[in-house]
Amino acid sequence: MITQLVYTSSATFDPASEAGSRHIAQILETARRHNSQAGLSGFLLVGGDWFAQVLEGEAAAVTGLFRRILFDHRHMNVRLIETRAIRERLFGEWSMGSTIEPLYNLPLSPMMKPSPPGRLDFPFDRIIACALREAQRMSEASAQG
Ligand SMILES: Cc1cc2nc3c(=O)[nH]c(=O)nc-3n(C[C@H](O)[C@H](O)[C@H](O)COP(=O)(O)O)c2cc1C
Repeated sequence: MITQLVYTSSATFDPASEAGSRHIAQILETARRHNSQAGLSGFLLVGGDWFAQVLEGEAAAVTGLFRRILFDHRHMNVRLIETRAIRERLFGEWSMGSTIEPLYNLPLSPMMKPSPPGRLDFPFDRIIACALREAQRMSEASAQG
């Protein structure tokens, strides 16, 4: 079985700023390097000022990573949404996929938008659905060259 963990958090920087996009690039570079070695996969959604991340892998690897992520100063209010056991990975092709544009600009259902702004209250299934849609969108974009 594969463990899948979803959490949300608030960025301690503005992801849309120039410095913010450097932070994101660094996070993703570390994530991709480490995750491919550790057999981890997943997807990171970056909103206006928040993150929602899906992590998948062996239970010990997922827990170990989440413990490190918890203490990362680039975000705060880390909130574990759910951990569950799954048979197959949903993001097996992604050492860490990500969409880094503010989600407010994406065609999301109103349920995905924090309400009131800044309140992180996204149900697990909504986050998974949104990450899957983004992963699909990115695969299609890269297939088109
Ligand atoms: C929102 C967010 C998501 C992250 N996702 C990952 C990840 O998927 N994999 C990873 O190795 N590090 C990730 N990191 C970085 C870790 O918190 C940590 O800095 C990194 O794993 C290096 O840890 P180390 O210095 O203890 O080796 C993330 C950080 C943030 C803020």
